Amino acid sequence: MENQINTQMEQRKGRRLVLFPLPLQGHINPMLLLATILHSKGFSITIIHTNFNSLNPSHYPNFTFHSIPDGLLESEASSSDLVALVKLLNIKCTDPFRACMDKLLSDASQEPISCIISDPLFYFTQAVADSLKLPRVVLRTGGLSSFVVFAAFTLLRERGYFPIQDSQLEEPVVEFPPLKVKDLPMINTVDPNLYYEIIASVVNGSKASSGIILNSFEELEQSALDTLRQEFPNPIFPIGPFHKYNLTSSSSSLLAQDQSSISWLDKQAPKSVIYASFGSLAALSESQFLEIAWGLANSNQPFLWVVRPGLVRGSEWLEPLPTGFLQTLNGRAHIVKWAPQLEVLAHPAVGAFWTHNGWNSTLESICEGVPMICMPFFTDQKVNAKYVSQIWKVGLQLENGLDRLEIERYIKRLMVEKEGEELRDRISKLKEKAKFCLQQGGSSLQNLDSLVSHISKLES
Ligand code: UDX
Repeated sequence: MENQINTQMEQRKGRRLVLFPLPLQGHINPMLLLATILHSKGFSITIIHTNFNSLNPSHYPNFTFHSIPDGLLESEASSSDLVALVKLLNIKCTDPFRACMDKLLSDASQEPISCIISDPLFYFTQAVADSLKLPRVVLRTGGLSSFVVFAAFTLLRERGYFPIQDSQLEEPVVEFPPLKVKDLPMINTVDPNLYYEIIASVVNGSKASSGIILNSFEELEQSALDTLRQEFPNPIFPIGPFHKYNLTSSSSSLLAQDQSSISWLDKQAPKSVIYASFGSLAALSESQFLEIAWGLANSNQPFLWVVRPGLVRGSEWLEPLPTGFLQTLNGRAHIVKWAPQLEVLAHPAVGAFWTHNGWNSTLESICEGVPMICMPFFTDQKVNAKYVSQIWKVGLQLENGLDRLEIERYIKRLMVEKEGEELRDRISKLKEKAKFCLQQGGSSLQNLDSLVSHISKLES
């Protein structure tokens, strides 16, 4: 058996994978983790990354890095319109990416390339891969359940769900119970048609790829997986949760993680702390920010709050807080700009996660058995939040806007009342399932073996 494994590893040596992450935090983290997983399976790893949100090669001495000029103007890179940003990246990266691939392919000293693994939001890479006669596999960094909704966008448009009308927000999406119209994965953008166009390109590009890798696991999203396997012609490999593989990997954080989060948590009672963080992209108005601050303060629970610079529109950092806000809480609160989230969620003092339900945060919370307060902002976050609160029943979704009294009530329901215990029990069971799928014979490890053998057989 061991000999067989060694021979397979030998065969893969000298096979290179070229990975191309979308340069946003929630997409970089899983791509770099995937690189570490595939490297452990014997592949050589080359990462192509943009200058925008560029990566630090010194964190990954085993990988080769190539930076490409993305040509983004400063105003474009800092724009809050993510839809426009994704479109621009697809336009401006095409030539530099192709040039970089040409160089890699023509360098005889380099190992042969088995395939490109790209984020599906870099949909232009399918045409480049085709023209270079290289297979392309995609890593969908979000969940399966939201992907199935994206895959049905054309149908949902035909059936009149888009553009979303305010009068229909509470109506059910009969194709996807228990979603309501307000849970459809939309985003504020100046050009909704561009958003539909991008989604169509992502879905078609994923269908045209040689395979889809997912940072999820079968036991969590079985029904979405069944749907996708019926609707998509290509193989699908849910091999997550990536961060729970027993492999050493460096942090791919774009912001410095404030370790005082952990020393502060060390001083708190078990399961007493609310960890509040809304990811790398979400933004709040000043009044929303203040409702959150007062809701947390009035809950009487200790809280660790990530206030990313830029979280509050028009403010640098904490200026909107009333003078002396933190002091009056007598050490019951700790605010940082960015936290070591994986360590925070695994800390015994953390009792709940108030999250925007980005997929990474959602999965990380499930893996540590921490129940959630859900406050989605846009796109897949809305679907994830519904799954957390109504399908897996491991969290409560704030549905009626941001109001300090309501927030206080939700925190009590989760931290003090019996309802919270029930959510905690259910998420502990999901945590066990997440653990099990990465044990010998577990679904994700089996899917990883299939993925490795699939990639090894791809013909370039
Ligand atoms: C974005 C999109 O908003 C989301 O819809 C999509 O699912 C993924 O990309 P983002 O806001 O980056 O999400 O959130 P998330 O997916 O949760 O990823 C954030 C990552 O940053 C997580 O891996 C989390 O552990 C990490 N993080 C977050 C930190 O390391 N420190 C923090 O303080 C906050």
